[in-house]
Amino acid sequence: MPRELRGVATYDAPPNIALVKYWGVRDAELVLPYNSSLSVTLDRLRSRTRVRFSPSLEEDEVVLNGVRATGGARAAVLRMLELVRELARGSGSAEVRSENNFPTASGLASSASGFAALAAAASAAAGLRLSGRELSRLARRGSGSAARSIFGGFVRWEAGRRPDGKDSFARTLFGPGHWPELLDLVVLVEGAPVKSVRSADAMQATVRTSPEYARRLAGLPRRLARIERAIAARDPGKLFPLVMEECDSFREVCETTFPSLDYLTPSSRAILEEVRALNRAAGRPVAGYTHDAGAHVHLFTLERDAKSLRRRIAAVAGVRSVLVVRPGPGTRRVDGRAPSGAAPERRRQP
Ligand code: PMV
Repeated sequence: MPRELRGVATYDAPPNIALVKYWGVRDAELVLPYNSSLSVTLDRLRSRTRVRFSPSLEEDEVVLNGVRATGGARAAVLRMLELVRELARGSGSAEVRSENNFPTASGLASSASGFAALAAAASAAAGLRLSGRELSRLARRGSGSAARSIFGGFVRWEAGRRPDGKDSFARTLFGPGHWPELLDLVVLVEGAPVKSVRSADAMQATVRTSPEYARRLAGLPRRLARIERAIAARDPGKLFPLVMEECDSFREVCETTFPSLDYLTPSSRAILEEVRALNRAAGRPVAGYTHDAGAHVHLFTLERDAKSLRRRIAAVAGVRSVLVVRPGPGTRRVDGRAPSGAAPERRRQP
């Protein structure tokens, strides 16, 4: 007989922005990507999720941003609860409440922070004490990019090779304090459409139909290594052009997908053009742009250039606001019941 689960936990998890994108899976059920990816975990923004397992609940209850969840959103949360029950060898219903302090489904990676917070809160509430690596693998099952939001700073998610996915998890390469001058200006644009196709489905359409996808994959290991070296050396002259090259490659495979995937608005495109013009005029890379499967744009720049860049970008038609964000910490427990952060690594797994 599985034991009846009871317990409660609340976690905060941050979104992340990918410098090398995850786009395409070799196993959709286990969420195993074709390529390794690299991201920066963002401070200031967070999903806060509370999970309570209790025998008094008749069924799972899911409330997202104050609204009872239905359809696909509810189903995705229930799938994660099911994985946690299996891991804990337990049964019983749970109540899940989650809130973001930023707009949901807007290209600000709410699925990454949402599933990182859910995996951490649900596993802790069920009495599991998972290592960072185990949590990353669990969060990956909810949304691939969530594997990276478990950790802070500059994070790499290893694609892995094993069919069971045991070697597909993220880790911190450099902590949040590695490069204190580096900022991400998050440019929120007006009229960003709410996603009509889930990323998980959109990326598989790219794998199937984009004639550019194979070439992108072949070039990624080299680009990833160069981006890692540029971060290690804190070299904006190397990093910013590489980040833009990677973003352009991601956009190219989206646009050549059938039917075509277009996540940008005219203002997003104007921002990319403004950054190209600015870098040309300055004769050096002042900023590097990137975006995910959404219309908002992230601009990496150094502290000394941030003020003038922000002024210039805020003047682009259709820009709603610009948030200044730094690399931040990973997923943390916030109900004071245990040390924050994931449990320390246990012995290596076989
Ligand atoms: O984790 P998902 O299913 O939301 O997909 C994320 C895909 C991108 O954000 C576009 C890229 C990435 O690596 O985060």
